[in-house]
Formats: sequence, C-alpha cells, structure tokens
Amino acid sequence: MRRILVTSALPYANGHIHIGHLVEYLQTDIWVRFQKLRGERAVYICADDTHGTAIMIRARQEGRSCEDVIADMSEAHQRDFADFGIEFDHYGSTNSDANREVCGEIWGAFRREGLVSEKEVEQLFDPEAGTFLADRFVRGECPKCGAADQYGDSCDKCGATYSPADLKNPTSTLSGATPELRSAAHLFVDIEKLHGFLDEWTQNDDHLQPEIANYLKGHFLSGPLRPWDISRPAPYFGFEIPDSPGNYWYVWFDAPIGYVSSTREWCARTGEDFETWWRDGTAEVRHFIGKDIVYFHTLFWPAMLKTAGYNLPRRVQVHGFLTVNGEKMSKSKGTFVLARTYLDHLDPIYLRYYYATKLGTTQDDLDLNLEEFIAKNNADLVGKVVNLASRTARFLKGKSLAATYPEDEGLFAHAAAEGDAIAAAYEACDFNQATRRIMALADRANEFVERAEPWKLKGPDQADALRNVCTIALNLFRQIAVYLTPVLPRLAEQTGALLGKPIASWDEVKEPLLGAEVAKFKAMLQRVDPEKVTAMVASSADGDGKAGAPQTDEAAGDPKGDAASDAPGRPVLEGEELAAECTIDDFVKVDLRVARVVTAEEVPDARKLLKVTLSLGGEPEVTRTVFAGIKKAYEAEKLIGRLVVVVANLKPRKMKFGVSEGMIIASGPGGEDVFILSPDDGAKAGQRVH
Ligand code: MSP
Ligand code: ZN
Repeated sequence: MRRILVTSALPYANGHIHIGHLVEYLQTDIWVRFQKLRGERAVYICADDTHGTAIMIRARQEGRSCEDVIADMSEAHQRDFADFGIEFDHYGSTNSDANREVCGEIWGAFRREGLVSEKEVEQLFDPEAGTFLADRFVRGECPKCGAADQYGDSCDKCGATYSPADLKNPTSTLSGATPELRSAAHLFVDIEKLHGFLDEWTQNDDHLQPEIANYLKGHFLSGPLRPWDISRPAPYFGFEIPDSPGNYWYVWFDAPIGYVSSTREWCARTGEDFETWWRDGTAEVRHFIGKDIVYFHTLFWPAMLKTAGYNLPRRVQVHGFLTVNGEKMSKSKGTFVLARTYLDHLDPIYLRYYYATKLGTTQDDLDLNLEEFIAKNNADLVGKVVNLASRTARFLKGKSLAATYPEDEGLFAHAAAEGDAIAAAYEACDFNQATRRIMALADRANEFVERAEPWKLKGPDQADALRNVCTIALNLFRQIAVYLTPVLPRLAEQTGALLGKPIASWDEVKEPLLGAEVAKFKAMLQRVDPEKVTAMVASSADGDGKAGAPQTDEAAGDPKGDAASDAPGRPVLEGEELAAECTIDDFVKVDLRVARVVTAEEVPDARKLLKVTLSLGGEPEVTRTVFAGIKKAYEAEKLIGRLVVVVANLKPRKMKFGVSEGMIIASGPGGEDVFILSPDDGAKAGQRVH
C-alpha cells in the first residue's frame, strides 16, 4: 500500500473561492478519491493562506481585526469546498501555532546553514495607506517590454521578472497613490548555494512535468539564483521573525510551510505519526498547483525542505488556468463566478464532470465553454450514464438481479479489462482520457440495451429474458459508476442504494453483482437547465465592478437576491430580444469590412447554402470563402460583383462542405426572408464598418 500525502495550494484568505480555483481543488479531490478507491492510503491536506498585506488592508477597510477576517473566510472556504464534494482530511490555517513553530524550525535551519544575510532594500511604499507594497499591489509598465498594467513582480506579456521598484509609472492598487521608494533592512536566503541540488531535483525522477522542468532550466537555473527576499518590515500581518524584531516572514515563506503544519495538526488529531509523513521518506508528498505559482513550489520550497531535512515532494503537478467561453474570467461579462453563486444555481456534479473531461497532463489553459458544459453533461451523464440505469432498473423494481450472470457478448469482461487503462489515466492526472474511455463503455452498454429492447419483453414467458437484459445493463452501469466514483461520488452512492451494495473499491468492476434486490429507481441527476446557467451568469455580472479590486463580501452575491429576476426585461423587437448591453470595446472586437462578391455558387447537397468568395481588396488581395445560408433568398449569379458587409475576423468554422471564414451581414428570420445589407455607392472593398 502506498502512503500518499496530497495537497492543493492554500487559497488566499482575502477572497472567496471561484470557479477558477475549483479547477485545482476538484482535480486534487478526484485524484485523492481515486487513490482511496484503489485502496491506497491517501491523505488530502490543505489550509487557508492567511498572511500578507492584502488581508491587512482588507481588515483595515472593514474596520475589523485580521483574525476576524480570516476566521470568516476560512469558514466560507470550507463550506464552498464541502458543497462541491471536495473532502479534505485536514483543513488548517497558516495563522496557527503549529505553523509558527515549523516556520521557526525551518528558519533555524537556514540560519544554521549560514544561508541568511541582511541587506538594505528600497521598496515601494504607499504613503496614503502607510505600508510597503507587496508586488501584487503595484501596477505599472514592464521595464523590459513596456507592456502596460503589469504586476510588480513579473510581466505576463514577455515573462520578465523584476523588482517592483523597476516598474515604470507605478501606482498603488491600494490607494491609487504613486508609491515612493523607501529603504528598509530585509533578510535574504542565498538559494544559489542550493543550485546544484535544484538542478538535480528539478530535472530528474519525474518530479515535474517536462515542460516545467525545461522552463526552470531555461529561465532560472541557467544562471545564478538571486537571493530570496524573505522578510517584510512592519506593518505586516504575519509572524514576526524571532531573531529579527520588527521584521516579518514574507507570506511565501510561511505559506508552503502550512502544508507541513496542517499535516502536523492532522497527526495530533488522529494519532498519526508525523515522522512517517514528512520525515522518514516512507510517504509520497504530492502537490497540486496552478501555473502561476510554479517557482515558489519548485525552487524555494524544495530548498526549504532540503535545508530543514524534510521529505522532498515526489511530484509537483501543475495545471493551467481556467478561461470561460474562451476568455479570462470577467466580472463585467458575468463569467467571474464564485463557487457559492454557482451552487445557488447549479448542481456541483456538472462542474466536477465537466472539469474532469477537460483536465489533462499539461499546463494548457482549460476552457469552460458554457454551451459545451450544458451539452456534455446532458449528453454524457444524463443521456448515457444515468439513462442506462433509469431505463432498465424500473423493470426489476422490487425484484432481484439474475442469480447467474447471463451471456452478454463479452461486454462485462471488456469493461473490466478497461480498468487498468482507466486507472493509469487517473494516476497520470489524465482525467480527460479516463472519462473518454468510460463514456465509450457507456456507449457500448447503451447499444446493447437498444438491441435487446427490454421494453418489448412483456408477459410471464419473457420475464427471464427481461431479467437477464436488465441484469446485464445494470452491471455495466455499475462498472461505469465505479469508474466514475472519483469524479462523481454521489452517483456511486446512488448506485449503491439502487442495487443494495455500496461501491467500496475499484475492484468491484471485476465481478458482476448477482441476485441483489433492485430498489425503486430514484432520479439521480437532472438535465442542466440552460436558463439556470444564464441566471448564474447574470447574477455574477459586475459585482463591485473594479476588476482586480480585492473582493468584498458584497461582491460575492447580489445583495438584493436574484439579479436575474430583478432585471427589467429587455425589449423584444421583431421577435428577438435586444442583446445585453455591450461596450465600445466589445463592439470593436468584431471587424466588419466591406467586401465584393467574386464568385457565388450553389452547394449541391445543401438546401440553404451558397458558397461565396469575397474580396477584401488589398495587395496582395485578401479573400474570404464564406458559406452563407441565403440560397432560398438569392440567386448565386446575381450576387457576383455586388458589395456586402462581412465579419472579417470571425474564427474559421469547419462545416460539412468546407471551412467558412466569415459571415455576410444580413437581417431577417431566414429562408426566403433574408436581406443582405449593402453599403451606399462609393464604399470600397476592405473599408472597415464602424
Ligand atoms: N495562496 C497562494 C498559494 C499558496 S500555496 C503554499 C495562492 N492562492 S490563490 O487563492 O490565489 O490560488 C490558489 C490556487 O488556485 C493556485 O494554485 C492557483 O494557481 C489556482 N487558481 C487561481 N485562479 C485560477 C484560475 N483562474 N484557473 C485555475 N487555477 C487557478 O496562489
Ligand atoms: Zn514585459
């Protein structure tokens, strides 16, 4: 049996959990549940990350103590996680006695090894807020590439890292004031002394994904490692450094130590032996993190552990960032959705399943496409999985499964044999692959039911045949439920209740369940209601408006209740509701151009489509091929030569007959009633329509 200690990054206590965070906590939860189901000893440890300037400022703004703020937030975080079925073995806080103790111990090791030195540092100071500014609270132009509106520590345009004092035209995001440079003594850890060790550790033994190992090699390890500034002068919410009064450990020092101290609390609570989890090398430590915090976890953190004689991580698994409908989450678009807002509208199961289908082994960003979210859940979970049970269980209500397993064309054996590949995919965090394989099994099982047509097996002489078909279908369903247990623990419970035997281990896929009494089928899952998705987006829209502003509780939900139903209706014109307000910025994203029709021809097998080539002028000439649904309204011949307006930057779309590279602007409901817009005389192909 493996002993595995698993962590997710500790969420900051200065904001609520949102659907971006959930990528990570769901990924980790699924992985841990998988290990537990397989019979491994896995422990999932997390905590709130409570220290730093952000909390201090927030508490100040709210007129409360920091302790008060973090206590409330910890409760809210844990409630959100629990409601998404994310199950920690222990959830601690970095503002704990245990954490202070372990920090002191690791600090002592740094001192002992002679790695600490003191240096005067000029840091940006916000004269209005009366505090030095953490990197994240300064924005300005990147000193390397000049990109506007970058954070104080790194540029997301060119990837440069730098000190906030190097930013051009900096402003404090706390007060909007122009920060000034002030000098203070800081303590530094000379991690260059661990360079050799870090070369080793980052590049070998599969500790990191290959892209991450290469990134570190190219970006940090190719030259000397800069000393790590590990202290902050008062005022600061954190732990004061015992041998350096007036200075506090920088939040990124005590935050990862929270992994260790939270484990220590768990040990104290359960009687586990701490040494065997962090000291003696008998446990695997695995961290799940997002790609924004890679260097803290792959350079500083191993350096800390190594110096203090703790176990090094067996693996740091890095995931990408969430986008929604192809873009960064946005408060104004309502795609910055808090966990709680989601829960107010939708079943958490949908998000667990959807993220699982999206998560792979790389750090590519993953997109929550809301249309696809609806379609996938309805097609896969409702249409394939639950449907398998719902349309067969009812025939055996109150009766029992067959006593010997009937001939099933090898379906059960095939699904059992898939177990190894599915397990390997889970183990590798390739949940996309795992769910695809599971859905393929569901497809086969449904095809079987369709061939067997249990609904036609009526009367006493068919009772045995009916029982056999349903025994097969329900056993195939049960295998799928076992495989999906890490993702959908609730479905596993429901399956246990339906068939009178809880799903307790992965190996239950190997033997069919026989003779068990089938309970009355209870609905397992509703279809996703698209209106609820719309309502969720509507009540997420805007909040406090200011992007990047610290979240406040008011932003967490609509204070008046359901924003969607309070909103005055938009007018319906000619059968279509006026679209939601957009800004000029939204509008200019759509590049409309005047274009001349060069060729137009009927697409033989399509009832509505004409294939049109458009010229946008230019040297060399720019053209677009467009499939337009205007065949019933326009004769191809007559279009040639005329000017139209086209969406020229539309993402090309693969259609049955070819790739469509734009859209001709027209009004009307369709069919014969389509009206192409024409520019007035004098317009030229290629001109932009504003
Ligand atoms: N407090 C630090 C972590 C300290 S670990 C010793 C932190 N907190 S966080 O709340 O900002 O983020 C927690 C985790 O959620 C991080 O791993 C981060 O990468 C992840 N995510 C935050 N926003 C995310 C998305 N939009 N998409 C995917 N993951 C995201 O960083
Ligand atoms: Zn830059």
